[in-house]
This record gives sequence, structure tokens and C-alpha cells, in this order.
Amino acid sequence: MRALTVRPGTSGSVEVTDVPEPAAADGHLLVDGLAVGVCGTDKEIASGDYGWAPPGEDRLVLGHESLGRVREAPDGSGFSPGDLVVGVVRRPDPVPCGACAHGQFDMCRNGRYTERGIKALDGYASERWTVEPGYAVKLDPRLADVGMLLEPTTVVAKAWDEVEHIGRRSWFEPHRVLVTGAGPIGLLAALLGVQRGLDVHVLDQVGDGPKPELVRDLGATYHSDGLDAALRAAGEPDVVIEATGVAPLVVGAMSATAPYGIVCLTGVSSRGRTVKLDAGGVNRDLVLENDVVFGSVNANLHHYELGAEALAKADVDWLQRLVSRRVPVERFAEAFEAQPEDVKVILTLAQ
Ligand code: BGC
Repeated sequence: MRALTVRPGTSGSVEVTDVPEPAAADGHLLVDGLAVGVCGTDKEIASGDYGWAPPGEDRLVLGHESLGRVREAPDGSGFSPGDLVVGVVRRPDPVPCGACAHGQFDMCRNGRYTERGIKALDGYASERWTVEPGYAVKLDPRLADVGMLLEPTTVVAKAWDEVEHIGRRSWFEPHRVLVTGAGPIGLLAALLGVQRGLDVHVLDQVGDGPKPELVRDLGATYHSDGLDAALRAAGEPDVVIEATGVAPLVVGAMSATAPYGIVCLTGVSSRGRTVKLDAGGVNRDLVLENDVVFGSVNANLHHYELGAEALAKADVDWLQRLVSRRVPVERFAEAFEAQPEDVKVILTLAQ
């Protein structure tokens, strides 16, 4: 069967290759792959900067933003043929560390976790794949065209869950949220903010294309004149979800909040991006306002449930509009090449 594979560490090594059919062993589900989303991490792996093949292999099957349909399910697995499913990305480290032992593999402390399509486990970009029922999430059948958005949604479901946890350390009734970046993560963060009844503002660079309208159709406000102008127009946010990883914005966001502000950083930036920073001023603001800045990555099963609930309540037409292009896997190179109007590009797997 066909799979999209890469030789990790080697730029330009992505290819559609023939790989052995998976056998549904050990109580696993056998799934027909429908599509995978392409994200920044996939591009980093494709350019040789990230990613690890499974032990003893030299190629890795790509794809961690999965969507498939169950073909075979063992009795008692809780799944049936025809169910729409998404496979979880991360697996606990083998030790396991305390967090992994508690099912919080997204918070792994020793870094020995594995990730399908990223780190030492084959991903989901193949015509068929298997998954442990305990690491599969059933989706509302209405999400058949957009379910590959679950994985990025889990990232923001976790971010919001953590914001609320941190907020509960004192009286917390947030009103205004600023999301920096209107890519898939930013737009999905905005969706979850609107679902919470918050006054959501989204800041991006572009003034045209699909993003302004996607934000407005959510009932949120779009800004494209920079952080200072957005703050002047909107007022100080109680919560910031940073989804660009752009150094000046990250630093700007830290000082932008109302007192008791919470800033969640989700953007994976490159090292070596230096900015001039009034570190004393940033520290002073954080201390005097009881502010919190924290980083967040990946998601555990609880966040997959939260993400699946959020997508099930969302307007499917709006979710469809996040998918800018659907590219057959054979033409993967087109999907890896960004186009100006792209939000989320997906690769389709079924023939
Ligand atoms: C994925 C996360 C993963 C991270 C680091 C992201 O693209 O969404 O699940 O943990 O990359 O590998």
C-alpha cells in the first residue's frame, strides 16, 4: 500500500513509497486512512530539521493530524466498522516518568515519549493504519470532511484547559482574549474562545484573503495593524493565546495583558531569534500584575475529548473553510509549498 514517508534528517527525502499492509494485531483497530493535515512540524521534518524513524528503520511514515474510517474493530473495543476515527499522536515514555504514568504524556518529564509521524513511530499518512483503541478517538459523523482538524484542536483545547486551571488560583472571570496569529491554531483557539462566550480578538499580518472573514464569521474581531494598534482598539486582554512563535510578538504579548493576565505560548519558533527587550520592565509587569506566561505543547486523551466536543458543536461549514486545499497524497510537494491564501492544507489518502 502507499504511504508518505521520509528519511528523517535528510532534506528532500519525502516520497510516496510502497510499504507492507498493516495487520490488525493485539486488539488494534484497522483503519482506512482518509486524510492527514500538513503543519509546520511536517515541514520541519521534510526539510531534515526534526523527526526520528522507528528503531531499526531508516524511513518514517509521516502524518500526525489523522482522519480515518474503521475497517476492522475487535469485539469489546468500543469501535465498529464505519466509525470515523482520529489516532492520538503521542505515547508515554517507557520508563514511565510520573506524568506519563498518570496519563499525562503531553507533560512527559524525561523527553523519551514517542509520537506517531514525528518521533520513532510511523504516522498516519498511509492508505491503512492500525491504532490501539485506547489511543483512538471517535468523531461525530458530521465531521467526515474536517475531522483531520481534531489534532490541532486538541492543542488549543489543552491551552484553554490550562488557562482555566491557572485562572482558578484566584478569582477569575476573563472577558477579553487576544489570539496572535490566524493560522489553524490561532483560528481554532479563537473558535474555542467564542464557544466560551468571550470577546475574542485575533491579530495577524494579512489584511485580505480568507482570514479576516473567517474571524468575523465566528463573531470575533480581526486586527492586522500590529500589536499596539490591536491593543489600543480592543483594550488589554485577560488572556492571550500566542500562536505565531514570532519573537517580538511573543515578548509584546507578555506585557500586553490586563492585571492577572494569562499568556499561553503555543508557537514553536526557531532558536536564535534575538530581540531587544526591557527585561526589567517585563519582569516588573509580571510581578506587579500577578501575570502568568506559560508554554504548552501536544495533548493527552482528556484534551482529545475536549477537542472532539468543541468540533462537534462548531459550524461544519466554517470548519470546511479552514481547509484551503485538498491535495492527493501523490502530489504531496504541492501541499508542502505554502500559498498565500492557505489556512490548512490536507493530503487525501483514499484513491
Ligand atoms: C504536534 C504535537 C507535537 C509537537 C512536537 C506538533 O506539531 O501537534 O502533537 O507534540 O509537534 O513534536
